[in-house]
Amino acid sequence: MELRFQAGGPESWSADAVIVFLSEDEKLEKAYPELLDAAPWMSIAPGMRDFHGKKGEMGLLYGPPAHPLSRAVVVGLGKLDALTYAETLEEIRKGAGAAAVRCRELGVDTLALPVSGLARFNADVERTIEEIVCAAMLGLWRNKAFKSKEPEDADPRWLALLFCDANVPDFPRLAARRGETHAEAVILARNLANTPANSLTPEDMAEEARKLARRHDMNCEVLEREDIVSLGMGAFAAVAAGSANDPRLIILEHAPAGHADEAPLIVVGKGITFDSGGISIKPAAGMWEMKGDMGGAAAVMGLFEALGQLETPRRVIGLMACAENMPDARATRPGDVVKTLSGKTVEIVNTDAEGRLVLCDALTYAQRRWNPSMIVDVATLTGACVVALGDDVAGLFCQDATLAQRIKDFGDIVGEPYWPLPLWDRYFELLKSETADFANAGARAGGASSAAVFLKQFITFDGSWAHLDIAGPGFVTRKIPNCPAGGTGFAVRTLIELAENK
Ligand code: BES
Ligand code: MN
Ligand code: ZN
Repeated sequence: MELRFQAGGPESWSADAVIVFLSEDEKLEKAYPELLDAAPWMSIAPGMRDFHGKKGEMGLLYGPPAHPLSRAVVVGLGKLDALTYAETLEEIRKGAGAAAVRCRELGVDTLALPVSGLARFNADVERTIEEIVCAAMLGLWRNKAFKSKEPEDADPRWLALLFCDANVPDFPRLAARRGETHAEAVILARNLANTPANSLTPEDMAEEARKLARRHDMNCEVLEREDIVSLGMGAFAAVAAGSANDPRLIILEHAPAGHADEAPLIVVGKGITFDSGGISIKPAAGMWEMKGDMGGAAAVMGLFEALGQLETPRRVIGLMACAENMPDARATRPGDVVKTLSGKTVEIVNTDAEGRLVLCDALTYAQRRWNPSMIVDVATLTGACVVALGDDVAGLFCQDATLAQRIKDFGDIVGEPYWPLPLWDRYFELLKSETADFANAGARAGGASSAAVFLKQFITFDGSWAHLDIAGPGFVTRKIPNCPAGGTGFAVRTLIELAENK
């Protein structure tokens, strides 16, 4: 769906449907006076009799078919006073996504959003515009890459923002473009995470990264199996040992002019293109979902798409640790001991705890090669985190209170919720090993924190580090509120906000 703008006031507006938001205690005439100038029929639309503005409610209003604005989709928000800033945006996103999908079902071809009515919420207008545009686009996303036929119901062709001014004002226009960019970044990540493992190997991820780097004039470097082995990344190599598809450590660098020598923000993503569990093989039921075990790397890819589009004035380096975790005659066995790039030895007691093994070497590499100001890693790391927080919330592990709060706040604003979990050293006790320095896994209890504390053993720089466990919301089969088709792309928008706001 294309993004358009219509200026010149009510007389010049035209679209097949306008999307309006209304709370329980508002009248359409009061909330959208300019819209009623454009479409006076709305004040007597019979459909309003049964619309009460309740949360999640949607009404359809019909005017004279020949009118330039002959339809309205009215979205209910509940009671505005009862909503916090973040809740307001969440309701608006849900409503915008649902309205866009409803319009597609109805065969409505063109949509419009009157901007003058958006100033009355407990959220600033620009953010409101950004969230509506982003949610409408994400709501329309479908997983259709592998369907042999185009869907019968086509997406609306465009969404136009309607302005009263003679010309389109800069700030709302930029906000809408930001929403579009965020949506494109999330969609890139979603498409990758939904691609089956036979069509997305670590080398395919590398090719995606090279394409992205060419699009945005960024640097891309790819380390192959021989490099990973010869550099001494014994843990990373152990995960890929049983796979015919070679691993890749993919590096993207966004270093705009004037920022090339800055201490970079480094983002590290888990990129397991398929996690069978390895020799510690997973049960058959649901194993197919593990094609999405590269959701962390997909989030890094989405972030870089946005950095390129937004020309973010900051140096950011992305690492994607990509491998397939497969059982094979050459596969790593439970009990095998490997030497990590850091020099620390790890006893692999469970080959299904592979995410931390690729990440630990990527984290060491990041700290040795660059001088990062901050490191954030993103990973579909533990089932334990899903048990603790559910399908919609990510685990946040960070001992820097300021960074933790920023991630949580950004997440709340863009609809990617994080909740803090402990990184205490007491969990390191669970990783005791007779043979090596420590083991890669412990008991089931405390599994999200023991995985995080495993990673912490490899953090030696003095900047701040955060680990995001997105095993719940970052997984392909989860239904996310503004996206009826399900999918992922979780953490992309939080990472963009983190990179954009120094
Ligand atoms: N990729 C999985 C984690 C996962 C589980 C993500 C469910 C999404 C949904 C990870 O590699 C894994 O297998 N973790 C194990 C660790 C255990 C063996 C210590 C787990 O969570 O069971
Ligand atoms: Mn696993
Ligand atoms: Zn995994």
